[in-house]
Amino acid sequence: MLAALEQIQQQALEELHTLQDEDALQRWKVTHLGRNSPLMRTFDQLGALPKEERPLIGRRANEVKRALEEAFEARRQALQQAALQRSLQSERLDVTLPGRPIARGRLHPTNLTLRQIVRIFNEMGFQVYRSREVETDEYNFELLNIPAHHPARDLWDTFYTTTPGVLLRTHTSPGQIHVMRQYAPQPLRVVLPGMCYRYEQVSARKETQFNQVEGLAVGRNITFGDLKGTLSDFARRLFGPQVRTRFRASHFPFTEPSAEMDIECFLCGGWGCSVCAQSGWLEILGAGMVHPLVLRNGGYDPQRFSGFAFGLGPERITMLKYHVDDIRLFWNNDLRFLEQF
Ligand code: PHE
Repeated sequence: MLAALEQIQQQALEELHTLQDEDALQRWKVTHLGRNSPLMRTFDQLGALPKEERPLIGRRANEVKRALEEAFEARRQALQQAALQRSLQSERLDVTLPGRPIARGRLHPTNLTLRQIVRIFNEMGFQVYRSREVETDEYNFELLNIPAHHPARDLWDTFYTTTPGVLLRTHTSPGQIHVMRQYAPQPLRVVLPGMCYRYEQVSARKETQFNQVEGLAVGRNITFGDLKGTLSDFARRLFGPQVRTRFRASHFPFTEPSAEMDIECFLCGGWGCSVCAQSGWLEILGAGMVHPLVLRNGGYDPQRFSGFAFGLGPERITMLKYHVDDIRLFWNNDLRFLEQF
């Protein structure tokens, strides 16, 4: 019996040292330590032995069992360690390799211009006011003195929604009413940047969506001189101190009198070229003194308050600044264009 145990132990340990993986280990355990293994059956047979032999055989069987269990555990740990070493070797990470460059995002050219415009007006005391892009007919037209069926509506080809009276704003001017109604009768100096939409035939000069920056100043004794001074100074700060500007009479239903401001064409220096249509001047904004009816709609008494307003197009200005000859480039997401800014 003792010899048999000796034999069991020796054979099991020999086998154990040839095993290379977890599956084989588990099979070994079943064979040599499982319920039906020769070793375990030895325990069952103890009862049949002569009384005086039992303790000796029993103790020896227990020793063999412990020896096998310990050897099993040791082998298992050795295999795990070896596997870890192998993966550390084969999957080694070389942290000294140079990194892959990350493609950096950049600001859209319109946003660059918008930020510049807003910064200039901030310096002159104008605060930014955000206003909604989905508007009512009332705010986009009626309250700005453009009644239904007024021919001036032709200036703003409109995207209507399926909800009657709700549309995509065609300009940022409805924001004038919102901001006036919120702050009247306090004096105001605000710029309102944002997207506008027009139902237009897309061309190199016209898009169906574009940004505007509306400006509005309301207070006592605000004059056309303030309007001219503010906008001329704005042009100098944006385009440089040497830029020349001119104001032309114009018409908008919500300003009276109304004007448009041109800057001298810096491509040809005023001599005339294809960009300025040989005129030497480029139009950059519409403006005027806030119409008394609009002041009243905003909650200000036109007898005591006056104001000026203007609206300019950042895409237009970006085109002039960077000599971009097609407005469609702003929206067709061509990286060859966008990455130049
Ligand atoms: N809202 C006008 C447009 O879209 C521009 C404008 C704004 C003119 C404010 C005068 C005053 O054409």
